[in-house]
Amino acid sequence: MKIGILGYGTVASGLVDIIDNNKDKRDISIEGILVRDVSKHAHRKHAEVLTSDIEDIFNKDVDVIVELLGGLHPSYEYLKRALENKINVVTANKDMLAEFGGELVSIAKENGVCIKFEASVGGGIPVLKPLIESLEGNEIDSISAILNGTTNFILSKMYDENLSYDEALKQAQELGFAEANPESDVMGYDAGRKLSILSTLSFKKRIYWKDFYLEGINNIEPKDIEYAKQLGCKIKLVGRSKINNGKVNGYVRPVLVGNDDIISKIDNEFNIIVVNGDFLGEVSFVGKGAGKDATGSAVYADVLDIYDHRLNNVDAFIKEKVDVDKVVSHECK
Ligand code: NDP
Ligand code: HSE
Repeated sequence: MKIGILGYGTVASGLVDIIDNNKDKRDISIEGILVRDVSKHAHRKHAEVLTSDIEDIFNKDVDVIVELLGGLHPSYEYLKRALENKINVVTANKDMLAEFGGELVSIAKENGVCIKFEASVGGGIPVLKPLIESLEGNEIDSISAILNGTTNFILSKMYDENLSYDEALKQAQELGFAEANPESDVMGYDAGRKLSILSTLSFKKRIYWKDFYLEGINNIEPKDIEYAKQLGCKIKLVGRSKINNGKVNGYVRPVLVGNDDIISKIDNEFNIIVVNGDFLGEVSFVGKGAGKDATGSAVYADVLDIYDHRLNNVDAFIKEKVDVDKVVSHECK
């Protein structure tokens, strides 16, 4: 299988390592890696296939384009073109999926190729595939989750090590957890986008992220952490959505979580996604929600699915958007 990788940052580095590490098991050839500035990456492995010209990637006749640039543009244009040219796509880009997921899934279907995006939710946690495949017989009616590694890391460091918000954010950026613009993380937008992807696939109705109530952790101060401690609680940035008689409601916001709640035990860059199915009951997915190796592992799994012709049904993305109630009360719990 021949692949082209767009980007050579945190996640792409993890992907390249795992491809190289599994070379004897799977023959995946990296034909090109797109970056802004080739000279910056000239010392790195696979430097011979680096390019700053997207045409070099399209000219290589690749089977899969793996988009790890981030942001809406030019990622959207590149992936649209790839799908229209019958090239399969793998992406970790939840910003783009939350805006253009429906259109890209439609184009993929029209052209008989696929778009896969396991790493867009929960970093390295295999959650979308089990949700779509293993829980297919269940009606899912609620999701409770920690969906952002950066903010969970910040809140954990403020709670465990009395770090300031700014110090903790700086560490999260140095570790490669934060988005290029960390406002997405701390304002709750990133978690909102992930909650919309999860809710769309779980409730089989297309849900737009901006329709959720979204509040971030940017106003959390050390004294809030102190009060939480005194109450036997932690503050967590929690996303919840629920469907009831066809009506969807949901939010992302800081929540006081009791120390005996499973969500309070998920610290640092770890994420948790708890869904409730009518036959299965509650099931939890826990693991690293951000970072090079964990996220590279999820992207690699998508590439392998294409290699082995295993495709998921993501048709919920091409349905009409439904209205969402912005619920701030505890109705969602
Ligand atoms: P980075 O910022 O670390 O890397 C981005 C890479 O893309 C860089 O190599 C950069 O090139 C390249 N790039 C960006 N824009 C362009 C452009 N217009 N043309 C050419 N190259 C470009 O991002 P991450 O690896 O952290 O994230 C990638 C994607 O994965 C994002 O969508 C992110 O949301 C998602 N994601 C990230 C996770 C994480 O833990 N970091 C986890 C899950 C998903 P150059 O180096 O030359 O500047
Ligand atoms: N910035 C994101 C986070 C990366 O911290 O969760 C993983 O999607």
